[in-house]
Amino acid sequence: MPETAMVDYDGLIPNNVGLSSDPRLRRALESWHPRSLDWWRARGPEGFQDSLVYLRTAVSVEPEGWAKFGYVKMPDYRWGILLAPAVVDRKIGFGAHKGERAWQEVPGEYRAMLRRLIVVQGDTEPASVEQQRRLGATAPSLYDLRNLFQVNVEEARHLWAMVYLLQKYFGRDGREEAEDLLRRHSGDRDSPRLLGAFNEATPDWLAFFMFTFFTDRDGKMQLHALAQSGFDPLSRTCRFMLTEEAHHMFVGQSGVGRIIERTCAAMRDAGIDDPYDVARVRALGVIDLPTLQKRANLHFSLTLDLFGSEISTNAANAYNAGLKGRYQEDQIADDHVLVGATYPVLRLKNGCIVKEDVPALSALNMRLRDDYVADALSGVERWWNRIIRRAGYGFRVRLPHVAFNRRIGEFAAIEADPDGSILSAAEWQRRRGDWLPSAEDDAFVAGLMQPCREPGRFASWIAPPRAGIDGKPGDFEYVKLQG
Ligand SMILES: [Fe+2]
Ligand SMILES: [Fe+2]
Repeated sequence: MPETAMVDYDGLIPNNVGLSSDPRLRRALESWHPRSLDWWRARGPEGFQDSLVYLRTAVSVEPEGWAKFGYVKMPDYRWGILLAPAVVDRKIGFGAHKGERAWQEVPGEYRAMLRRLIVVQGDTEPASVEQQRRLGATAPSLYDLRNLFQVNVEEARHLWAMVYLLQKYFGRDGREEAEDLLRRHSGDRDSPRLLGAFNEATPDWLAFFMFTFFTDRDGKMQLHALAQSGFDPLSRTCRFMLTEEAHHMFVGQSGVGRIIERTCAAMRDAGIDDPYDVARVRALGVIDLPTLQKRANLHFSLTLDLFGSEISTNAANAYNAGLKGRYQEDQIADDHVLVGATYPVLRLKNGCIVKEDVPALSALNMRLRDDYVADALSGVERWWNRIIRRAGYGFRVRLPHVAFNRRIGEFAAIEADPDGSILSAAEWQRRRGDWLPSAEDDAFVAGLMQPCREPGRFASWIAPPRAGIDGKPGDFEYVKLQG
């Protein structure tokens, strides 16, 4: 086993970065530790801090057997600092420094840009924990409660991962940035999180599953792009984070999938052929598919804003500098420099949406967003629409046009319907309730959110999972509430 795969569990902070031989860094992180715990208690899951939760903890960074499962109280979770194993002799794969040796220290000329990339990524990690903090009270099962908490502790570990980079490589301003990651809070009027979608509420479990499907998937794309970084510690950090992120995708796609499964089964049992017969479907105590579609429209469009403007010099600069690559950069067959290359971008020209070839370097946000849309779409088809089709219903969940409900980029100035047809402001106001959840839709979903805490039991609106976590049986007690 290479040395970096060994995780040192002896100290306060589990790590495979040699913390015991770096006293300055160890002191900095040990002084940050109680503050992060204060944050966790004040802003993390509400009401379950003394419960025993069946969680996985990373104990190695090897692909096989990297995690172990066991009951733990969340404040006792071992939030470690874990980097994927170093690639011997790794080279920078793209941009102006392509072919040079990957950096082990911060390249001075790019210091500010690199710090900003780390801070923006780091800010999203605790944000989602804050957004989800009240969901425990209404969990549809102990299985789901446990999955929520697993996602939460791992997002808190991702915060640790970014704080490590700031503390180790950025000196004093890195420490200040680390403090600020705990000072900003999701939805806070005075010091909100940096990105819009991370200040939105996650009021119910449908929102949680949609968030993990759509918004955690943005995280996946960003981590992939940063995993290509020429700054090797960032690359290794993000590569290991992606191992955990896969579970977050699973929670979202299977969570919504189980809702769809339950809805279809209830409709079939009641002899309802028309999924649009919303009143009858809701009377069954399940979530109707049109409401689910509206929630998908909402979370998808909010998440697209996270990719920033379609045309961006910041993205071009980060790529040229070798700091942030494309999704799966190392599997793309081109020159990885992109000077003179073009990329097609949807733009707003004279009030029309048109496709235009622009310099590929300035279209990198757009490219990452395109890769995101393709990834999300395949998830929708493979997980959600397959379930509906198999149940014998003609309904399909669709992803709206990228111009729909946007606040950032080319389409922020207009309103468009889910097909991408531009609407007048009045028409949008008249019809938005057809496409986005109304207060009434949200109230209906909220009304379903009653906790279900008996092992093996599930709320009326969601089907049990196919398999348990860690091979556990259906009635396994994933959370022992009393601790
Ligand atoms: Fe994360
Ligand atoms: Fe995540």
